[in-house]
Amino acid sequence: MEKLVITGGTPLKGEVTISGAKNAAVAILPATLLINGICRIENLPNISDVKLYCEILEKIGAKITWITKNEITIDTRDICCTKAPLDITRKFRASYYLIGSMLGRCKNVQVGLPGGCNLGARPIDQHIKGFEALGANVEVTQGNITASAKKLVGTSIYMDIVSVGATINVMLASVLAEGTTIIDNAAKEPHIVDVANFLNTMGADIRGAGTDVIKINGVKELKGGSTYSIVPDQIEAGTFMFAAMATKGDITIKNCITKHLESITAKVIEMGGTVEESGDTLRIKCTKRPNKANIKTLPYPGFPTDLQPQAGVVLSIADGTSTINESIWESRFQYTQELCKMGAKITAQGKSAFFEGVKSLSGAPVCSTDLRAGAALIIAGIAANGKTEVYNLEHIDRGYENIEEKFRSLGAKIERVSE
Ligand code: EPU
Repeated sequence: MEKLVITGGTPLKGEVTISGAKNAAVAILPATLLINGICRIENLPNISDVKLYCEILEKIGAKITWITKNEITIDTRDICCTKAPLDITRKFRASYYLIGSMLGRCKNVQVGLPGGCNLGARPIDQHIKGFEALGANVEVTQGNITASAKKLVGTSIYMDIVSVGATINVMLASVLAEGTTIIDNAAKEPHIVDVANFLNTMGADIRGAGTDVIKINGVKELKGGSTYSIVPDQIEAGTFMFAAMATKGDITIKNCITKHLESITAKVIEMGGTVEESGDTLRIKCTKRPNKANIKTLPYPGFPTDLQPQAGVVLSIADGTSTINESIWESRFQYTQELCKMGAKITAQGKSAFFEGVKSLSGAPVCSTDLRAGAALIIAGIAANGKTEVYNLEHIDRGYENIEEKFRSLGAKIERVSE
């Protein structure tokens, strides 16, 4: 078992470069199944979710060549199987994108139903509603989901809930459908635009991604032959912004799209930080104890749920009492119990948490309960006095590339240790 051992108390200073977006990568990889050809993907984050997705794609006949650790070519001409490996897909949330892409490509698919997750209930009713509207027959039995169709025909689909996954999945299923599909009340996250841009580069006709109405004109084939570079990770950039705030640091974040970070920049300024923007670079500086602030998570362009725990660390040491309202996930405050082990004073009740800011945190052994909770605990460990040990690193490795090396390059005293 591995753990991170952090000796806290160092303000983070220096430059860090952001990797490609995890949540775009885990949608673009299955999207390659819609291509009858070879494409090249650059700026692919080197994280365990990406490696697992590549393994799944290889099992169903894709040929993947790693050019560098962040660049692959993928040949999807010989997709030979409509049954994705059930054991792997069941463990892995983003495997639901195989339903949209394989339904689009083969009109038939079976995957393990994306299983338990520690953010609360994660239904996929809106995905299923979309596939059925396009003409698919969808069955959920014994932990598997099977979808098949004689043909898929474009139609208008109104999403009852703004869902990232359902928007992307319906987009994937409709790219090769007959006629036009309209997704109304679509999610607008940067990775939705990125998946649409990827598919359009390969020959799809998708308009309006990034607004709440997406129009997909079905095309006969996606040919590949092109190169696509994945968008920088908005959430990784935000993680370093809050790390600067929590440690009274001065961090220059390179390779980010500052427009994607507006809701985060606004909170950083409210918390008393300064933000200097220049092209694709942001410099975040904090010279005093952060101010209290209230946060409500919302779909993009609102404040992202995936940065809620990292912002929570800053509020735990802010001057005054702050509230976070989590409006996306039922159960995303498990990290607060870990922060309390480090001396934080937080009361979580349902979808709200109240942070009575303390002057400082003290190091302690803590467990990462999910990916973003893990990132938050690393920030807390760097900000705290004394030694922190962070366990359950498999969550963190799913979504952050070289996280301890990046923090170390900013001056953090952090080591990965095998027990
Ligand atoms: N929902 C439904 N029915 C559906 C789909 C969603 O009720 O059919 C509900 C969910 O239960 C939730 C809300 O709608 O309350 C939004 O869920 P969404 O579908 O947008 O989430 P997701 O696609 O499953 C993605 C990210 C999450 C991120 C959310 C929200 C990926 C692989 N995952 O999940 O990322 O929190 O969008 O932005 O893209 C993470 O990276 O740490 C992470 C959890």
